[in-house]
Parts: sequence; structure tokens; C-alpha cells
Amino acid sequence: MSAESTIGIIMNGVSGRMGYRQHLVRSILAIREQGGVTLSDGRRVQLVPILVGRHEDKLRDIAARHGIADWTTDLDEALADPRWDVYADFLVTEARVPAITKAIAAGKAVYTEKPTAATFEEALELARLAKAAGVKNGVVHDKLYLPGLRKLKRLIDDGFFGRILSVRGEFGYWVFPGDGVPAQRPSWNYRAEDGGGIVLDMFPHWNYVLENLFGRVESVYAQTATHVPTRWDERGRPYAATADDAAYAIFGLAGGVVAEFNSSWDVRVNRDELLELQVDGTEGSAVAGLFGCKVQHRSATPRPTWNPDVPDQHDYAADWHEVPITQEFENGFKVQWEEFLRHVAEDAPNPYDFLAGARGVLLAEKGLESAATGARVDLPEVTV
Ligand SMILES: NC(=O)c1ccc[n+]([C@@H]2O[C@H](COP(=O)([O-])OP(=O)(O)OC[C@H]3O[C@@H](n4cnc5c(N)ncnc54)[C@H](O)[C@@H]3O)[C@@H](O)[C@H]2O)c1
Repeated sequence: MSAESTIGIIMNGVSGRMGYRQHLVRSILAIREQGGVTLSDGRRVQLVPILVGRHEDKLRDIAARHGIADWTTDLDEALADPRWDVYADFLVTEARVPAITKAIAAGKAVYTEKPTAATFEEALELARLAKAAGVKNGVVHDKLYLPGLRKLKRLIDDGFFGRILSVRGEFGYWVFPGDGVPAQRPSWNYRAEDGGGIVLDMFPHWNYVLENLFGRVESVYAQTATHVPTRWDERGRPYAATADDAAYAIFGLAGGVVAEFNSSWDVRVNRDELLELQVDGTEGSAVAGLFGCKVQHRSATPRPTWNPDVPDQHDYAADWHEVPITQEFENGFKVQWEEFLRHVAEDAPNPYDFLAGARGVLLAEKGLESAATGARVDLPEVTV
């Protein structure tokens, strides 16, 4: 942090979906707009971003649109400049490790999208390098900041569930193959050779959700599929989808909770939200989504009896009650950015580091191993 209380942030990959919308506009510019990050003693630290990317025209356009003075296509030059304290990475997964490795060598604090790498070995190496260099490091854990999951966390902390028995996660939606209606995700997501695949994309999220809410993931059994083998890219050209686009997994958690997650880009939504987690416990159950969270207490549980001869008139949906909103929820990416910047500025706690990121990549890797071998795979505890 420089003397005039600003933090300079190198933002690499701001032309991408996540880099532009969630990290630049909804987080860094929103924090800048509010006058910076407030530290524990009330001081404010303002942010100064520099945009980095491969295409001059895109950078110039974004910089002009948002009144940003600094941009460059030369990452090395930005890393060599002491004005910039933090390196932030929103690149395609495949490009991430070399860029972060350089940023660590340059002594920058590093904040990155997940997955931190495409393999566990590389992800762990990043954690090792960051520790050896003494640079602060953080990884996006955005799902933990969703209003629905924060309400769920409060229920857990309040002991609402009694003993938690199981978690069922349903995630997914129909991603158009791209012929006719354009695909709503980048084509690299569907090519294994470009770091794609729903396991590598989503299992890092499931790992931090599970370990922070229910317990460490100790084992995984997964079956994957490439249900749609041909898709059409951003230019309308057909390509072979080589990566998994659906995964059906069972995670064994420390303490005995069983978590079962379906992740798919090939399902049509018949749920309230694109992600839903049903948690069942001895005293009550909850269904949490991105925004909502509904509960059913033991005392209000109906007593269904199975009878295929009589149409069931019971309205099961009516047995659930929405958890009221009792606090304001800000954009989760922004909240986590502020926490990380406090970690940089005044050493505030930051549990979501490269080691947490490596655990997420390990779950993806072991999930793919399980899918390839058909066996349940145990996950070792990870240390640097
Ligand atoms: N936290 C979340 O909820 C979430 C959601 C989606 C994606 N992601 C992650 O964010 C990252 C970016 O995903 P996205 O959907 O924004 O992708 P995207 O394709 O929209 O953007 C990728 C960015 O990387 C740049 N890029 C592409 N190839 C490059 C290369 N070879 N070298 C340098 N730069 C390159 C592009 O110019 C672009 O700026 C991925 O790692 C993805 O896993 C996270």
C-alpha cells in the first residue's frame, strides 16, 4: 500500500465475462465509487486499477467508458511497476498459472478467479510459491456470499437442523449448443484441451461451499458425461465438445454428512433457482438457492403415506416457509474483494487463500479420476 493510502490493482482479463461485470464494474469500480475500502480504524483506502489484456482496442474502450486512466497490453511492464500492489486474474483457466507465477515473483499480492489451476499439482505449487515469497493471496469464494447461502449458514449456526444428515445440490440449466440461439457460455468451457469441463468449473465451488458449511470433503464418487458432443462457437462454427458437460457426484464429508450434487449444462430448469441446496436434518430441513431459503421444521412436517391407488392431494410446497430478509446483502464479489483488500492493507483474516483454491482443484481432479475409474476416491488433507 503506498503512502497516500491507495491500492493499485492490476486487473488482467477485464474483457471477459467475469472480469468485466463482476470484478471491474460490480466490485472495483463500485468500491472506488463509494470512496474506497474502510479499514478497522475508520481510515479509507482508495483503489486505482490498471487494465491489462491482449487487445488494445478493447482496453481503450473499457478505460474510456469508465474513466480509467491506466491500461496496457504489457503485463510484465505492469508487474515491474511499484505503483501496483495487487495482481488480479480473471483469465481463462489455462492462462492463469504462468501469469500468477510471474506476479508472485514480482512480489505482488494476488487475487484470482477459481479454479486456480487446471491440475492439483500446479494449484499446490502456486500456494507453495506464494508462501515462500510471502505474498498475500486470495481466491474467489463467491457462492458463500450469496444471500440464500448466507441465510443457510445462519440456520446452521443457530442449530436449526439438529444433526445434519444429507445435502442435495441441484445446479444447472440449458446452455444452448449455439446453432440458432447463441450459446450463453464461452466455447472454451466445452473443450477439455482449453481448460473446459463442468467438473473443473463447478467442483471447486462445491468444495468450498461444503467445507465451509458442512465439513471437509473426504471422498468423491462421480460419473460424468458429455451429453452434447457438438456445439457451435462464438463465430458460429461447429466444434467437437471434448469436455464433460454434466457430472453426477456423491461427496462424503467429515462427520458423516452425505452430499449429492448434480451439475449440468444440459437440463431444463424445474426449480425456483439455478442452484438449490436441500439440507435435511433431524430437527428440520431447508432449501437454499442463490437468493431465497425456505425451511420446514420437524414440528411442521407432514406425514406422507405411500399409496399409488389414491392421487395425492397434499400441497407439499405449502409446507415450506421463506426465511425473511433481516439484513442487506451486497454483491458477493464486492464483499469478498473488500475483505481481501483489508487483508492486504491491515492483515485482516483471509481464510480463502491459494491452499483453499488448491483443495477445490483437488476435488475436481479426484472427481475426474473417479469418473474415469468408476471407483470412489478418497481425498487426502492438503498442506503446503
Ligand atoms: N466465480 C464464478 O462464479 C465464475 C463464473 C464463471 C467463470 N469463472 C472463472 O473465471 C475465469 C474466466 O471465465 P469467463 O467466463 O469470464 O471467460 P471469458 O472467456 O469470458 O473471459 C476470459 C478472459 O481471458 C482472456 N484470455 C483468453 N485466452 C487468453 C490467453 N490465452 N491468454 C491471456 N488471456 C486470455 C480473454 O481475453 C478474456 O478477457 C475462468 O477461470 C472461470 O473458471 C468463475
